[in-house]
Amino acid sequence: MVDQDPNVSRETPAAGAPPVAGEPYADTPIAMAAERASQVLTPGGAGQLPRPQHTRIMTVANQKGGVGKTTTAVNLAAGLAVRGLRVLVVDLDPQGNASTALGIDHRAEDIASVYELLLGEVTLKEAIQESPSQQGLFCVPATLDLAGAEIELVSLVARENRLRNALSDEVLAEYQIDYVFIDCPPSLGLLTVNAMVAAREVLIPIQCEYYALEGVGQLLRNIELVQAHLNRGLHVSTIVLTMYDGRTKLADQVAEEVRRHFGDKVLGTIIPRSVKVSEAPGYGMTIIEYDPGSRGAMSYLDAARELALRGAAEDAQA
Ligand SMILES: Nc1ncnc2c1ncn2[C@@H]1O[C@H](COP(=O)(O)OP(=O)(O)O)[C@@H](O)[C@H]1O
Ligand SMILES: [Mg+2]
Repeated sequence: MVDQDPNVSRETPAAGAPPVAGEPYADTPIAMAAERASQVLTPGGAGQLPRPQHTRIMTVANQKGGVGKTTTAVNLAAGLAVRGLRVLVVDLDPQGNASTALGIDHRAEDIASVYELLLGEVTLKEAIQESPSQQGLFCVPATLDLAGAEIELVSLVARENRLRNALSDEVLAEYQIDYVFIDCPPSLGLLTVNAMVAAREVLIPIQCEYYALEGVGQLLRNIELVQAHLNRGLHVSTIVLTMYDGRTKLADQVAEEVRRHFGDKVLGTIIPRSVKVSEAPGYGMTIIEYDPGSRGAMSYLDAARELALRGAAEDAQA
């Protein structure tokens, strides 16, 4: 018999052991993550979030690629949905990464996608799919066809208004959608303009890295143009700092600079760089489903809560 010292190997609780307060393993990192996960996944476990008075339509834009647009769109959406809200993600990037992360097979033949929606060949109701990841989480998927849309749209009537006209109020009401996130491609072309015309709010993810603000000036000028000519109500409502690496001084400097620039539009929650977050889409999952107790999941849940509470505070003022 080997003596079992309870203080040894506390990092490895028995597989599947439930975290029970006061029990030997309850304060290990794994047990704490499991505890958080069970709270997240218990309906009503961590409280429902307030529903906005009107559907909030948010364009997730930044013409720089790889800054976390798609990751932020799908994980904020999942963070809101897991707390009882109903959320639609419109995948407006031909890469279809948002569709993938939401577990939707967008390579299948004959699926009604955002491409057909923009061309007016299908209705929103025909293009909308519920994500298998999460109840209350919906997606209009993108297929590679969308790559040609940027050019095909040019010759269509009301080419900047195609998405706005397609996002019918009746269907959003029928599905009781509280939030719509439009995941933009990394460009400022006609697809992104369509997203900006369809939305009221712009959410800009900014990566805590070198040249973080590069191109943001151009993005803001484009938003102003859309505001002036196509959609008066459009405004930048939210900035999310992504891929923060606490070990680098640079990340803090970037975060500080962004806060100086954008003030309280910047969410207090910063999304850390985390391998789990980057792994999740490979399994067709959001981080909330893939590893609900992880730091990445907690940060997106916190960001989602902030977004909803800010919206509720504005509703109360209106
Ligand atoms: N918080 C994070 N931690 C680690 N990797 C991340 C994080 N956010 C995004 N990534 C990864 O960085 C890459 C770019 O992110 P993505 O959301 O696709 O950016 P965009 O849509 O702006 O091009 C992807 O491989 C993604 O998995
Ligand atoms: Mg993307």
